[in-house]
Amino acid sequence: MAGTYEDRGAGVEEALAGDGVTQGIVRVAGTVRRPVRPFTATVQAYLAHLRAAGFADAPQPLGYDDQGREVLSFVPGDVPREPLTEDTAREEVLVELARLVRRLHDAAQGWTPPGDAVWGGTPGRRNTNATSDGEPQVVGHRDYCPGNVVFRGGLPAALIDFDLAKPTSRVDDLANALYYWAPLLDPLDRSPAYADLDVPRRVALFADAYGMTGRQREVLVPAAARMIGRFHVNMRAAAEVDPVFRRFWDEGAKDRLPRAEAWIHEHGPAITARLVA
Ligand SMILES: Nc1ncnc2c1ncn2[C@@H]1O[C@H](COP(=O)(O)OP(=O)(O)OP(=O)(O)O)[C@@H](O)[C@H]1O
Ligand SMILES: [Mg+2]
Repeated sequence: MAGTYEDRGAGVEEALAGDGVTQGIVRVAGTVRRPVRPFTATVQAYLAHLRAAGFADAPQPLGYDDQGREVLSFVPGDVPREPLTEDTAREEVLVELARLVRRLHDAAQGWTPPGDAVWGGTPGRRNTNATSDGEPQVVGHRDYCPGNVVFRGGLPAALIDFDLAKPTSRVDDLANALYYWAPLLDPLDRSPAYADLDVPRRVALFADAYGMTGRQREVLVPAAARMIGRFHVNMRAAAEVDPVFRRFWDEGAKDRLPRAEAWIHEHGPAITARLVA
């Protein structure tokens, strides 16, 4: 596949740093170069489908450069970092994110992944395709952490880093977005600007903006509780085999994830009550 992208003149390479999961990501003019991983071709096919289906708020897949790296379009805008600021905690942000995810899901709905599709995941993890509604329904993003949402004009405008994209249910994918942005975390573990937010109200606003069905509203909290449980198990497993995840674990995940499990158990009923009201 090397060399399918034709570079017009060598550009300056600027390192792009996220949370440190993927090494070697660089920007070259209007493009991003990423190391090829086992799932890269599948993600490029997915991104191509999204484009063809009219979803343009994700990187455009541009093939491979002559060093064999994946080439994507650079998405202009600002990527927030922890601790998240007050202006990202506005309800308008959550509403716009819900609309963005809705458009992603609607565009993804028509895509049947190739038979030889390969999906990413956290290191050391057993692969499971189980979703909250039974069968996988749609290929979702599955990693709406702040570093993967591009803002323009103070609002979410695009999604990047589809490394964890995989067949999932819409509800499971929404639970992931809400985990980071409602957020579904103990106040101790939130950015200070998010500590006192009315989470049930925010989840309901998100649900309205997405257009969640009655059934999706009923199963959201159980889906979120299962997801947080999986985060805990998977993060612990990843920490055993990967130094970056070992650092995430030691620097907070080991406390944050059990606290999130306890928090959703205690506050989930109030969220569901608000969602189905
Ligand atoms: N296509 C793109 N357009 C614009 N910015 C990008 C793009 N790809 C990556 N970036 C920037 O580089 C950072 C790291 O990229 P990316 O999120 O893909 O890597 P990562 O190490 O996997 O991050 P994470 O730790 O969030 O998983 C992003 O947070 C973003 O700031
Ligand atoms: Mg990222």
